[in-house]
Amino acid sequence: MKCNLKTDEIAIFDEIFDSKGFKHFVSYFNRLPFVFRQSQGWLKIWRISDGQILSSPESYYTKMPTNTPIDWIHNTVYHIAKNYLQDICGEEGKDWDEIVYTPYIYPEGTKISWHDDHGYSAACIFYCHEEWSPHWGGELMVAKTPPFDSVLDGVEPDDEVSRKYTNKLLNTYGYGTYISPVPNRMAFTKGSVWHGINRVDKSAGDHMRASVVAFFKKSDRPASGCLAGSCHSEDKGSVSPSEASQPCQGS
Ligand SMILES: [Fe+2]
Repeated sequence: MKCNLKTDEIAIFDEIFDSKGFKHFVSYFNRLPFVFRQSQGWLKIWRISDGQILSSPESYYTKMPTNTPIDWIHNTVYHIAKNYLQDICGEEGKDWDEIVYTPYIYPEGTKISWHDDHGYSAACIFYCHEEWSPHWGGELMVAKTPPFDSVLDGVEPDDEVSRKYTNKLLNTYGYGTYISPVPNRMAFTKGSVWHGINRVDKSAGDHMRASVVAFFKKSDRPASGCLAGSCHSEDKGSVSPSEASQPCQGS
């Protein structure tokens, strides 16, 4: 395992497992049951044109061990978060006391639009497809943005579908960083970071973007949020600009 990037907001660790261990995990992942995520209702963190992604049942840190290879992911995520990334992930007990793990598949043609992971202190994505071409899309994109409250002037009361603050928020700087879904990689992001997943390109064909997403959260907060491979958002109805300062609220 090696750290390839570390900033105040994001970190990348590569070569998480050895070759044999990674193949074993891929085989386990491919045997999991999946459903189309939106079959459980429209989670509006995905825009209507983002496409149909699939997910598998969640696992919880507080209920470990699962006695499945998900425990391997957790042991690594927990070790990295506690020993190297407290500035990104936060402090156990104070900022989070639960980690929720969800397997996700983004097939060709799918994406998740810009959002933050409000309600979570941090997230981690582990990429578990066997190969990924740089031409296939599916990159995690991380935007440089101004403070959220600073873009709310003049923004009308909003809702989860309109998100009228997004243009101002993302266009103030209009640039950022991308992280390719390199197999056997973990990408950590602070919950306040604005990010999205680039649409998986047609050229990926049957190559699915496979990941396990970990969310760090307080157990007394609603289990809904977003993510790069994962979001759980509740319908909050219309929100005022001040409420909209919590864009993925409840999430
Ligand atoms: Fe997210």
